[in-house]
Amino acid sequence: MTSSHETPPATLDTPLELTPADWPSREVYFLMTGLVIPRPIAWVSTLDATGRRNLAPHSYFNVVAHDPPHVVFSSSGVKDTLRNVRATGEFVANLVSMEVVEAMNFTSTDFPPEEDEFTWAGVTPVPSRSVAPPRVAEARAALECRVVETVAAGNGTIVVGEVTHISVDPAVWRDGRVDPQLLDPVCRLAGTRYARLGEVFQLPRPSWSRDVEGTQPGAAIPRLGD
Ligand SMILES: Cc1cc2nc3c(=O)[nH]c(=O)nc-3n(C[C@H](O)[C@H](O)[C@H](O)COP(=O)(O)O)c2cc1C
Repeated sequence: MTSSHETPPATLDTPLELTPADWPSREVYFLMTGLVIPRPIAWVSTLDATGRRNLAPHSYFNVVAHDPPHVVFSSSGVKDTLRNVRATGEFVANLVSMEVVEAMNFTSTDFPPEEDEFTWAGVTPVPSRSVAPPRVAEARAALECRVVETVAAGNGTIVVGEVTHISVDPAVWRDGRVDPQLLDPVCRLAGTRYARLGEVFQLPRPSWSRDVEGTQPGAAIPRLGD
């Protein structure tokens, strides 16, 4: 036992130093998902081997490459989504904006595999361009993916997908790119907590030869508002 606290204390008077194995899995889950925030949400649509639709949110999700683009999501345990991507090798990561947050959350219900979450949540399946699973019409963007690998990680299975097609709603496009405020993404925090985007600001990215070389340590740090 090398942890400073045996269980999560109500108040933390000294720094928490934790060996994960010393806390119940559920407490480590709340700690990790409370620290690694905000997380984007992939609303993952799939088909099972017989062609039945499935839709479920996954916030263990991110983009990990762009040429060609790849995304990952992770299933904690074996769920319909994971079974389906293993059976078919395809999924769509629909991005979740605030206007669909309630429908997204509802699709996390533990529906039996034969139930269609599109129907239950009242969202519209529309044909994808490059994969068989439909995308969600109400999503402002969708990433159609081909599974390239699944990787075991603890109680999770990471699904790596190559993005084969990208759909973006004109409503989120401004000045040549996606406008974050128009996309209005739902940000997952721990448990039942969520957030939406706050202030958006810019911070220039420095280059060694252009900005830093020849200066003193600390002198060339770009400041907010520069
Ligand atoms: C916002 C949100 C994010 C979630 N993220 C994940 C996740 O990353 N991995 C996971 O296994 N389950 C996650 N869940 C729970 C699944 O959505 C839930 O277990 C769902 O019933 C799985 O559906 P399926 O069996 O059709 O795949 C999340 C739930 C919510 C509400």
